[in-house]
Amino acid sequence: MRVAMIGTGYVGLVSGACFSDFGHDVICVDKDRRKIDMLENGVMPIFEPGLDALVADNVKAGRLSFTSDLSKAVPDAEAVFIAVGTPSRRGDGYADLSFVFSAAEEIADSLNGFTVIVTKSTVPVGTGRKVQDIIRRRRPDARFSVASNPEFLREGAAIDDFKRPDRIVVGAEDERARQVLQELYRPLFLNETPMLFTNLETSELIKYAGNAFLATKITFINEMADLCEKVGADVQAVSKGIGLDGRIGRKFLRAGPGYGGSCFPKDTLALTRTAKEVGAPTRIVEAVVAVNDDRKKRMSRKIVEACGGSVDGKIVAVLGLTFKPNTDDMRDSPSLDIVPELQKAGAKVRVFDPEGMDEARSLLKGVDFCQDAYDAMGNADAVTILTEWNEFRALDLERMKQIMKRPLLIDLRNIYTREEMVAAGIEYHSVGRLPVPARGNSR
Ligand SMILES: NC(=O)c1ccc[n+]([C@@H]2O[C@H](COP(=O)([O-])OP(=O)(O)OC[C@H]3O[C@@H](n4cnc5c(N)ncnc54)[C@H](O)[C@@H]3O)[C@@H](O)[C@H]2O)c1
Repeated sequence: MRVAMIGTGYVGLVSGACFSDFGHDVICVDKDRRKIDMLENGVMPIFEPGLDALVADNVKAGRLSFTSDLSKAVPDAEAVFIAVGTPSRRGDGYADLSFVFSAAEEIADSLNGFTVIVTKSTVPVGTGRKVQDIIRRRRPDARFSVASNPEFLREGAAIDDFKRPDRIVVGAEDERARQVLQELYRPLFLNETPMLFTNLETSELIKYAGNAFLATKITFINEMADLCEKVGADVQAVSKGIGLDGRIGRKFLRAGPGYGGSCFPKDTLALTRTAKEVGAPTRIVEAVVAVNDDRKKRMSRKIVEACGGSVDGKIVAVLGLTFKPNTDDMRDSPSLDIVPELQKAGAKVRVFDPEGMDEARSLLKGVDFCQDAYDAMGNADAVTILTEWNEFRALDLERMKQIMKRPLLIDLRNIYTREEMVAAGIEYHSVGRLPVPARGNSR
């Protein structure tokens, strides 16, 4: 099947590459000429494990190509996916649909023969109908159907998630569109991946409801972590204790500095706006948004308190800047709240992230970008882990003690145990667990 993928970002590029790997002919389109140039030269514009090899294999096989000219990709395509960004609209938090609508207009101008236009971007309920109207108005002669196929992949595990999803959701209202989507996902269908067919509105809402639920789980355990700190309980054990209950489930119950990333913050906010607008407010999700925003702001205070109440004139090393490991994505990362607050409080901040440094350079000013974790920790008064990259899970604790001014670790991802820190003689603060006090071993 011939596919055009409009938008070659984290979702479009992975989806396009995976569809081509399923055997379809895919052209990925992006109006960002720089991205297309990079891809044509075999360079990935984003970091996603395994993506470079997947793209290279399928380009070599002649099934995957790139262009910045939408009109070259759409006319021959049987399915056109819209995978452009839907960021928060400045000022009011609604999803900014300008990229989706302008892509719809451009697609309309190039339609030729029956085409299924599929929104893969996360879009508020009602957007599919609007896309339908835009195309109908612009091209009354066109033969097309609009479908919704939200994407559930996670950055960092995107290829595996796309190829082995828990389910595929399709909002489509005519048989032909359903058949096209079924054919596209045929390899997964054969694997008996559940495929859920709904109307457009339901499919659009499933995506928001899913993200809001996961964000709620994270926020819930974060509040439990605060409570644990006050009463001497251990949030890791609480999480395990409730997560083993099959009705609750263990995933998304890790306490931390608050959720960030390119989806949860904007999607939870957009859901509350849509819900309010139609007179069915989602008060639980509103609380989740407020609690999470507050938490990200409070995390810098937690670090300051761990440093004895002041970081003025102190060196704080920050390990991890991206919102989670295995991605270079910095969108709404907790580090963007925490680092500037530490600077405001007078700290000199030295940072390291395995993949996020390029992106971080344009977002964080006045920090020292370091070569690696130990470079960042050199002569530091404290080190804080903001992202649980694997390489931070086995730091050389003896070396840390040697090179830091004072061995103080503030672990906002709970990747170390208290016992390890007691044994190593490192002052240790984490989330939702009792701290390990200093052992009088400062240099
Ligand atoms: N990133 C994720 O993990 C994830 C997961 C599931 C769903 N989503 C959703 O998928 C959508 C895309 O997210 P993303 O992270 O890939 O965004 P992104 O910002 O990484 O990529 C979007 C791309 O679309 C391009 N674009 C915009 N308008 C265009 C047009 N008219 N023609 C061609 N290209 C155009 C941009 O240049 C950009 O490269 C969003 O709605 C997001 O909420 C994202």
